[in-house]
Amino acid sequence: MINTKSLRADFPILSRKVHGKRLVYLDNAATTQKPMQVIQAVKSYYESHNSNVHRAVHKLSDEATEAYDEAHEKTASFISAGSYEEIVFTKNATEAINVVANDFSRKLKKGDEIVLTQMEHHSNLVPWFNAAKMTGAKIKYAEIDGNGELKMQQLRKIITKKTRLVAVTHASNVLGTINPVKEIAEIAHDKGALAMVDAAQSVPNMPVDVKKIGCDFLAFSAHKMLGPTGLGVLYGREELLENTEPLVFGGDMIKEVTFENASWNDLPWKFEAGTPNVAGAAGFSAAMDYLIKLGMGNVRKHELQLAKHAMKRLSEIRGVEIYGPQAEKRTGVISFNMKDVHPHDVSSILDSEGIAVRGGHHCAMPLMRLLGIQGSVRASFYVYNTMEEIDALIDALNKVKKIMKV
Ligand SMILES: Cc1ncc(COP(=O)(O)O)c(C=O)c1O
Repeated sequence: MINTKSLRADFPILSRKVHGKRLVYLDNAATTQKPMQVIQAVKSYYESHNSNVHRAVHKLSDEATEAYDEAHEKTASFISAGSYEEIVFTKNATEAINVVANDFSRKLKKGDEIVLTQMEHHSNLVPWFNAAKMTGAKIKYAEIDGNGELKMQQLRKIITKKTRLVAVTHASNVLGTINPVKEIAEIAHDKGALAMVDAAQSVPNMPVDVKKIGCDFLAFSAHKMLGPTGLGVLYGREELLENTEPLVFGGDMIKEVTFENASWNDLPWKFEAGTPNVAGAAGFSAAMDYLIKLGMGNVRKHELQLAKHAMKRLSEIRGVEIYGPQAEKRTGVISFNMKDVHPHDVSSILDSEGIAVRGGHHCAMPLMRLLGIQGSVRASFYVYNTMEEIDALIDALNKVKKIMKV
């Protein structure tokens, strides 16, 4: 199990005060805090190894290249990919999804269909809108039920021989719902379609094995799993990546250039144009080491305990409505509203108590509309959060009720 007491000492930011109060950071679905080990890895990279990668033949360049390549290998092992060739570093999960959507925008034809779900983040909606607009392909949506879970029968119906791709979030950033992505990938493959998983909210929070899921592509971001900002991951099956066009051209992504033409570098470098985020990769390696030491199964267990406690305590407050399924079926993400109080007001009052949550549409406007709300308050937990912090959230919400007179 995770010992939060000793672990919290690794996170310098957790000892700071906000508005004179102890910081209670519950906005982890947006981005997580960084332990000393990650901060130190970035610092040490710049202090002792900084250089460009894959280019010069000197000691520093060798060291930087080794750190950068090693981060690809560690990522491959972290999600059980076949090899580092299947791991492309991007700017973030959004860019990773865009790499695939860009390729589809060259290959789809009128009459082809893409299947998404009603619970997608804008990052797994808008790139597909663009692909559909460019090609005349059609987008269909898998619906959600009253518990915030996918209606699997309806999903089975809309995936047909016309479907080219099913792109689905592994875990919703609003409802917390964990989707049966293995089953969805099987349904897609049965109809000859590919399956892409938006794993921005799953890889940080539970063991994820791309081979077991059987997906073709998968995207996530380092900053949501203790790593630095500015680094995302696209996993793709090797033979698919071989046939995927790069999104950005120039720099390290070429093999041969003449005045007339160019050929692309080997995987994964053909997708990594220009000088990459080497310091970010060094930090990401340290983040993965940290999580591996904790054990992703323990991360999941810890979040589940927190989610159970939070849902129980939240449901004791009159006028609080929680969205999404029971704790066992979700990650440590809990969206809720307080009757007659705008989520921004709730978030502002919580902030004045030192409690950081997210209030708003969470980059899921269509889902908000479907739920009949403008936004929600979202508390999301990670490895360093404690039961006491959830109790502090509950006390502060009771204060909101008093201040807002509801
Ligand atoms: C489900 C989901 N997908 C995609 C993203 C996009 O991640 P990034 O902003 O790191 O590109 C997020 C970020 O919140 C997310 O929650």
